Amino acid sequence: MSDANETPVASPFEGIAAADLDPTAAGAARLDEIDSLSHFRARFHMPKGPDGSDAGYFVGNSLGLQPVEARAIVEQELDDWAGLGVEGHFEATRPWYPYHENLRAGFAHVVGALPGEVVAMNSLTANLHLLLMSFHRPEGDRRVILMEDGAFPSDTYAVHSHVAARGGDPEHDVVRIPTRPGEDLLRIEDILDTIDRLGERLATVMLGGVNFRTGQFLDLSAITDAAHAVGAMAGFDLAHAAGNVPIALHDWNVDFAAWCTYKYLNGGPGAVAGAFIHERHATNPDIPRFAGWWGNDPDTRFRMHLEDTFVPVPTAEAWQLSNPPILAMAPLIASLDLFQEAGMLALRAKSRVLTGFLHACLREMLPEGSVVVTPGNAEERGCQLSVRIADRARERFDALAPHGIIADFRPPDVIRLAPVPLYNTFADCLRVAEVLRAL
Ligand SMILES: Cc1ncc(COP(=O)(O)O)c(C=O)c1O
Repeated sequence: MSDANETPVASPFEGIAAADLDPTAAGAARLDEIDSLSHFRARFHMPKGPDGSDAGYFVGNSLGLQPVEARAIVEQELDDWAGLGVEGHFEATRPWYPYHENLRAGFAHVVGALPGEVVAMNSLTANLHLLLMSFHRPEGDRRVILMEDGAFPSDTYAVHSHVAARGGDPEHDVVRIPTRPGEDLLRIEDILDTIDRLGERLATVMLGGVNFRTGQFLDLSAITDAAHAVGAMAGFDLAHAAGNVPIALHDWNVDFAAWCTYKYLNGGPGAVAGAFIHERHATNPDIPRFAGWWGNDPDTRFRMHLEDTFVPVPTAEAWQLSNPPILAMAPLIASLDLFQEAGMLALRAKSRVLTGFLHACLREMLPEGSVVVTPGNAEERGCQLSVRIADRARERFDALAPHGIIADFRPPDVIRLAPVPLYNTFADCLRVAEVLRAL
């Protein structure tokens, strides 16, 4: 997290070590009691279980909950559209013309960027293509894009099709870092060695910041340094990282990144995505890019009859193609406000203990032979734990819903559980472990 973006505050969870966690009802109650962020749960709509009480919601890594305030903001836009028509572009409560600016400070906060380095636009996969267009610059023998085994399929499709569309051969130009035989997690030394070994053949590193399947959080700073040391660009898919782990994209010198906002950022289904372009690139007007009118200098954007030379805004906003989708952005304003109110550092301090507590509960209560695949070290994970169930995994998973637990399953045998510090409690964590044990 960039110091410019947040001043550290004392957290009641500071100094609580994994060994101190007591996976019992009394232990959960004690931690919920000291939780200074617990009031944020009431700022979200919590789905209900079959008995009408609050569900145990563990899928904020898939679709974050609706902030209560989101409805009022969406309704305001609908009212302004109804009452003002086209005048809403300039006269709405939040004028639509510069609407993307409403998300600038919030994005900069959650990914550790300068305000001019972030922009809300499009969807995640579309942004990956746009950013690869700018930053993947194959030339001579330098042609390789480095990905990881276990990357999200959309990233693989995007990278392969991108390489092919630009005349490359994905078979040769896409290199994937494997996990070692019998291991689930990538080793940082393998990533760094591969970068070093590829050397002048490496054009671009494009990895997931937090892996969707295992929950592993990579050392993005070390990977970026290694990529730069061999003259390559470093970019990341932050779908599972944004709003989950502290990130300092500016300070780490990352070249580009993209993320979706429907997971930890609670922007709503299909909400608009984010993109980061480091200042040193964002201010360069000569970067190759696919352009559209919303990336043009706003002062000349509407002088269509006079000028048709593209004049990029000297910020990440130059990558915008189209005018902002107001209704897809509105709920995100509510959610990013909550992140600013709570603070990423305070959320992370709680998250480490919350997930550590879930880990402790699962260790006690999982069927024998089951393992938590996610790294045990809190530095190498966000809030998600991926649990490989040894015995009747699907059956156990299917039995969670009738108990009011909403989790997800990755075949053949992994249950993913993501306790989110904005709205999950320590009691939730104990509850899911107890249900798994009872089954
Ligand atoms: C890691 C990762 N990358 C890419 C995507 C695709 O996102 P979108 O449909 O917004 O392009 C997802 C969606 O869940 C994801 O988790």
